[in-house]
Amino acid sequence: MNDNKIQVISKYALEGVDTQGLREKALAAKQTLESGSGAGNDFLGWLHLPSSIDEQHLQSIEQCAQSLRQQCEYVVTIGIGGSYLGAKAVIEALSDHFAAYKNGNGPKVLFAGNNIGEDYLYDLMDLVRGHKFGIIVISKSGTTTEPAIAFRLLKEMLEKQEGKEFAQRNIVAVTDARRGALRGLATQEGYATYVIPDDVGGRFSVLTPVGLLPIAVTGFDIRALVAGAVEMECEGDEQVLNYAIARNALYQSGKKIEILVNFAPRLHFLAEWWKQLYGESEGKDHKGIFPASVDFTTDLHSMGQWIQDGERTIFETVVSVGDQQHEVIIPSDDEDLDGLNYIAGKNVDYVNKMAELGTRLAHVDGGAPNLLITIPALTERYLGQLIYFFEKACGVSGYMLGVNPFNQPGVEAYKKNMFALLNKPGYEEASAAIQAKLKG
Ligand code: PA5
Repeated sequence: MNDNKIQVISKYALEGVDTQGLREKALAAKQTLESGSGAGNDFLGWLHLPSSIDEQHLQSIEQCAQSLRQQCEYVVTIGIGGSYLGAKAVIEALSDHFAAYKNGNGPKVLFAGNNIGEDYLYDLMDLVRGHKFGIIVISKSGTTTEPAIAFRLLKEMLEKQEGKEFAQRNIVAVTDARRGALRGLATQEGYATYVIPDDVGGRFSVLTPVGLLPIAVTGFDIRALVAGAVEMECEGDEQVLNYAIARNALYQSGKKIEILVNFAPRLHFLAEWWKQLYGESEGKDHKGIFPASVDFTTDLHSMGQWIQDGERTIFETVVSVGDQQHEVIIPSDDEDLDGLNYIAGKNVDYVNKMAELGTRLAHVDGGAPNLLITIPALTERYLGQLIYFFEKACGVSGYMLGVNPFNQPGVEAYKKNMFALLNKPGYEEASAAIQAKLKG
């Protein structure tokens, strides 16, 4: 394993798979991306984002985060999709698994506005009631329903509980520079704001204040995260090409589902972020790999059977973490009633790594090709590398597939129906059509 960077290893992925012509195709797709000559080229701001982040910007985010950390016991981050998953993924990947139950330095960062669960909102409001809390409200369009509902509720609660002045000091809005209801509201209320650049789409926005601010509030090092991303921006192309080529070759060979696998519980939300990135970018024109995910070894006891023996339309991409942060040794037991003495003296991660290798070999034997992405450790730097790597590979892969990776027209369909059913002004025609369909 290369000690300093993430790496893509296709040893068990491409046996018997036709990759002819795909390197040329991938190089052409990379050229299209980098020259800005492809579809969706007005959304390429993320491509050179890491190296363009300056000291002043980082300092401003750190100061804002510090102020929230000093004044708040909780900070509620409101957003959905690309305005939520990146921050959630990085925070989870770096946090103590039981941080929610432990007293730590600084506020607890909570998430809202990523669902319309009434009980979820009730429970959240119940938790922060009587405590000083702040809000980071994130929406590029500034009009998305889920975060708008959560923000209306929490804003009102905060103002009543702590007063308008405290609320005004501890609400930060991250949104478009000019457009959208949230921009207007933030201007009127005098909130601190950060801009999501026009040319950075939601799912590519984790290295803007969308991700950086909540990550900094949690106490993690956003400089190292950005530095890791810069490393991949400057030197990651070979890995990007390897991944894009392998997944397109597998797709062409009939593997329509890619399962992102982890053996590290901290990576659950990284997979959720990855699913959005690839699902929204590639799933269009009736094409695209279906991105799925599992957490092993947990899901070996639920999905393992299907993956080993079910329909052979899948391949796996295992994100394998090198070093753990802590060592836990399995003790020896004189009686050995549980029969575990054969692994006594080993650390738990040694067992996990053997489970990982054994699983990969079994799945390859069962006809599920296996790509490997190695990440030296779960640190800010390597997560920054991984994020940028996945983003660029997504752009290249999408162009190889022949779609515009930077739009998401399909997500509007449900909204139209929902607004029609809720009798939102302007949806009268859609409402009549739905009523007729429901009656029919
Ligand atoms: O990637 C995307 O563009 C979407 O997933 C958006 O991030 C999501 O719909 C939230 O949109 P907004 O930030 O405008 O509230």
